[in-house]
Amino acid sequence: MSANIQKVTVLSKTTWTPNLFSFTVTRPDSFKFTAGQFVRLGVNPSKLNYHQQQSSEGADEVPNEDIFRAYSIVSSPFDEVLEFFSIVIEDGAFTSELQHLQVGDELLLNTMPFGFLTLARYQKPLPKDLWLLATGTGLAPFLSMLQDLQTWQDYEHIVLAYSARSEEELAYVELINRLQSDFGELVDNPAKLIFVPIVTREPVAGALSERLPKLLVDGSLQAKAGIELDIDNAHVMLCGNPDMVEDTKETLKSLGMVMNRRGEGNIAVENYW
Ligand SMILES: Cc1cc2nc3c(=O)[nH]c(=O)nc-3n(C[C@H](O)[C@H](O)[C@H](O)COP(=O)(O)OP(=O)(O)OC[C@H]3O[C@@H](n4cnc5c(N)ncnc54)[C@H](O)[C@@H]3O)c2cc1C
Ligand SMILES: NC(=O)c1ccc[n+]([C@@H]2O[C@H](COP(=O)([O-])OP(=O)(O)OC[C@H]3O[C@@H](n4cnc5c(N)ncnc54)[C@H](OP(=O)(O)O)[C@@H]3O)[C@@H](O)[C@H]2O)c1
Repeated sequence: MSANIQKVTVLSKTTWTPNLFSFTVTRPDSFKFTAGQFVRLGVNPSKLNYHQQQSSEGADEVPNEDIFRAYSIVSSPFDEVLEFFSIVIEDGAFTSELQHLQVGDELLLNTMPFGFLTLARYQKPLPKDLWLLATGTGLAPFLSMLQDLQTWQDYEHIVLAYSARSEEELAYVELINRLQSDFGELVDNPAKLIFVPIVTREPVAGALSERLPKLLVDGSLQAKAGIELDIDNAHVMLCGNPDMVEDTKETLKSLGMVMNRRGEGNIAVENYW
């Protein structure tokens, strides 16, 4: 096993829908990361308690191999445990196994953190506003940033727009509301975090219903957030579905924004597949 790979133990699991769940694992003492980064997580199907229970009941053998995938960290760099938010893809080599996780299972963690979807990539002076635009599990890195006080101190407004197909797939709404009040109180501005839920495949009261690029072009996202979005005043981060990232990036460019390179420019992105 490579020197960077450590065993971690599953501490809890939350099931949001049949296709979405979150879990926490132990955090190795030496493991450090910056909010927004991702790691490589590994699972060996044959070692999952679920399969061991099945095989004692005579079920077929399962692969005895380590399968790794990239996962953004949900928890803050200051938390004692590591949290992750996962999709379940029916035929996906990794998540069709990961869905069976139970408390006490062992996973592998490559302790080399990766990724540049971090606020440190932006050079100072910072603009007033930070826009965090996510689809599905692409919410994860933004939750980590929102649990870091520095994010709250650096921007005047933080807009979190989070798009899911259905209302039940809008996970973590309670945590978002809690961060809004707890960190809002810490920075003496309860209105600093502006949460804009978007549900695209069913009508939901209080949520927008169109895709992000359309909401930006017709101004409904800005209207719902109650602030303007312009080149001089905003950093914009995009994470999740690569089609959303591409379409939204092009839309932002048509509004005058530019990709962030070497610290300068508005837009930073991360594709999940
Ligand atoms: C930088 C980075 C960070 C990532 N962070 C996360 C994360 O925090 N949570 C997470 O669930 N996944 C994340 N992913 C995706 C993850 O690495 C795997 O692709 C995912 O776990 C599915 O693995 P799989 O083997 O089951 O299916 P794969 O064979 O990897 O994927 C099969 C197909 O499933 C779809 N798909 C894959 N991942 C997702 C997803 N997250 N949401 C919706 N559809 C998807 C795509 O159509 C993909 O082609 C991240 C990917 C990258 C590159
Ligand atoms: N969600 C489910 O019920 C479900 C069930 C079984 C399997 N899966 C699998 O899960 C994967 C999808 O994951 P997901 O649920 O996170 O769905 P997703 O397709 O990434 O959708 C999440 C959100 O992103 C939006 N979106 C998609 N493309 C966009 C674009 N180009 N621009 C702007 N917004 C865009 C969606 O809007 P739209 O609604 O307009 O697309 C939706 O609001 C697929 O592989 C699928 O097979 C999902």
